Amino acid sequence: MAEESAPCALQMVNIEKYFGLVHALSNINMEVGRNEIVGLIGDNGAGKSTMVKILTGVHRPTSGELYVAGRKVDLDRYNVKTAHSYGIETVYQDKSLGEKQTLWRNFFVGRQITNRLGFIKVGEEKRIAREIMLNTIGFRGRGITVDSTVSKLSGGERQGVAIGRAMHFEAELIVLDEPTVALSLKEVHKVLNFVHKIKEAGKACIYISHALHDVYEVADRFIVLDRGEIVASIEKGNTTLKELDTFLLEYAHGLKDKRES
Ligand SMILES: Nc1ncnc2c1ncn2[C@@H]1O[C@H](COP(=O)(O)OP(=O)(O)O)[C@@H](O)[C@H]1O
Ligand SMILES: [Mg+2]
Repeated sequence: MAEESAPCALQMVNIEKYFGLVHALSNINMEVGRNEIVGLIGDNGAGKSTMVKILTGVHRPTSGELYVAGRKVDLDRYNVKTAHSYGIETVYQDKSLGEKQTLWRNFFVGRQITNRLGFIKVGEEKRIAREIMLNTIGFRGRGITVDSTVSKLSGGERQGVAIGRAMHFEAELIVLDEPTVALSLKEVHKVLNFVHKIKEAGKACIYISHALHDVYEVADRFIVLDRGEIVASIEKGNTTLKELDTFLLEYAHGLKDKRES
């Protein structure tokens, strides 16, 4: 019984989004399982970021419903801040960390552990940051400690800090929108490893990337968006990377078009 009713990490029901006359999202129905990594793919302008921004409280949908871990989201009161309280954490490329601050300070930005007088519990924050970085996400940066400043970290390592932070704050769902843009191959591998840790920790993730081979490596399932509509949901076990690539190209070239007259 308990297993049967275990809610999804995320559910979107009949989500519509207009920007003025632009129909950015149409009838979006999707779910992400409790411990599922979903690759969200589709051409530029397909609506991927809009979907994520609705999910993370940046944009309000024109209509539709949103559920996080079975809890219906009150969209009237939903914003980037309250999204955290529902268990949604977003990792944006680079923008989410303070360059000149230490790794441990970044870990607790906006959510400091304080004593009754309001002083930050430095020792405890450092201990937790160290524990998460080493054990939860397997961070192995040479010469990097929780006291290192972020500016010393490589691009992939920065993503690791952001992902570790999201995992520490009990996220139900971690959203990564193009996390590997501008990273070297070696750095990309670090990020993909961190995503595997999300899976191992029993959490859920939506992973958006233009690099199909990266998405293919980490995702359990792919949701394909085309001009604001979900056109496919494909289990990794049912497709090869090549098939998926061909499928996407057919949409990109307009060979598949549900709206053709
Ligand atoms: N803030 C906005 N105002 C107006 N139109 C927008 C806005 N954000 C996105 N759009 C439009 O919505 C559509 C989907 O965009 P987006 O979600 O950014 O796609 P993707 O992330 O898949 O490239 C595009 O046609 C885009 O121009
Ligand atoms: Mg985008």
